[in-house]
Amino acid sequence: MDQRTLLPATPLPIDQREGVYRAILTRRDTRGEFLPDPVPDDLLSRILVAAHHAPSVGYMQPWSFLVIREEGIKRQVHDAFLKAHAEAALMFPEEKRDVYRALKLEGIMEAPINICITCDRDRAGPAVIGRTHIRAMDLYSSVCAVQNLWLAARAEGLGVGWVSIFDNGTVQRLLNIPKRVVPVAYLCLGKVRGYHQRPELEAAGWRERLPLDQLIHFDQWGRQGTDEALLRRLRNDQGAAQSGRLELSHPD
Ligand SMILES: Cc1cc2nc3c(=O)[nH]c(=O)nc-3n(C[C@H](O)[C@H](O)[C@H](O)COP(=O)(O)O)c2cc1C
Repeated sequence: MDQRTLLPATPLPIDQREGVYRAILTRRDTRGEFLPDPVPDDLLSRILVAAHHAPSVGYMQPWSFLVIREEGIKRQVHDAFLKAHAEAALMFPEEKRDVYRALKLEGIMEAPINICITCDRDRAGPAVIGRTHIRAMDLYSSVCAVQNLWLAARAEGLGVGWVSIFDNGTVQRLLNIPKRVVPVAYLCLGKVRGYHQRPELEAAGWRERLPLDQLIHFDQWGRQGTDEALLRRLRNDQGAAQSGRLELSHPD
């Protein structure tokens, strides 16, 4: 087939579209639900392929995937978490500290696999299409890989938890990551007992999901509420998504 022939831009069949939204809406950050069962290589391989197919600035593909399974390394990373976690508690107002300390915010030791997704800032030389004026675009690209991996893992019935309560320099040193490479995401991955229906921080009363209609501006920042028909639909869809019945009205 001619490489320039376009694939048809038809919507995916409804069950596949439902699957995409279901993965998005039921993806959760996993901390306390990991099972010790090993993750089969075929699953691990597929979710890494999904991550590698993320968009990236100038097609830079700045990511690498450090797959961590050694108990001793996980232990050291966990120690780094404990240190940062104790420091972090003191950064919250006094009345919130006990709630903060009671939250489980990682599953480093329980998860059979940890993955550090990095960004090699020199992967494609100094001038990169799309990164010429906004330097952080390569970091954002690695974050796109994280999200692809997270959603693919949800589709496969695995759990992922992002742990960011670290001194990044310590993580860099523990994992022997070279200086030009930034550790972007430290992820815990494994089979899970199940997924929480709501974000745990929401269930714990830490924060609510924000009303989407209040986050929309039209044409210029601050112009809100000018397209009431769209906003009504958004409110309705957000309610439906939260109760697990987002409707796909587009016919096949
Ligand atoms: C950049 C980033 C860093 C995060 N760091 C942590 C973390 O250190 N510990 C943790 O328990 N959750 C962490 N999370 C998960 C969020 O707390 C979680 O996504 C949010 O509460 C919404 O819940 P949900 O992902 O289950 O929908 C992080 C998420 C992101 C995107």
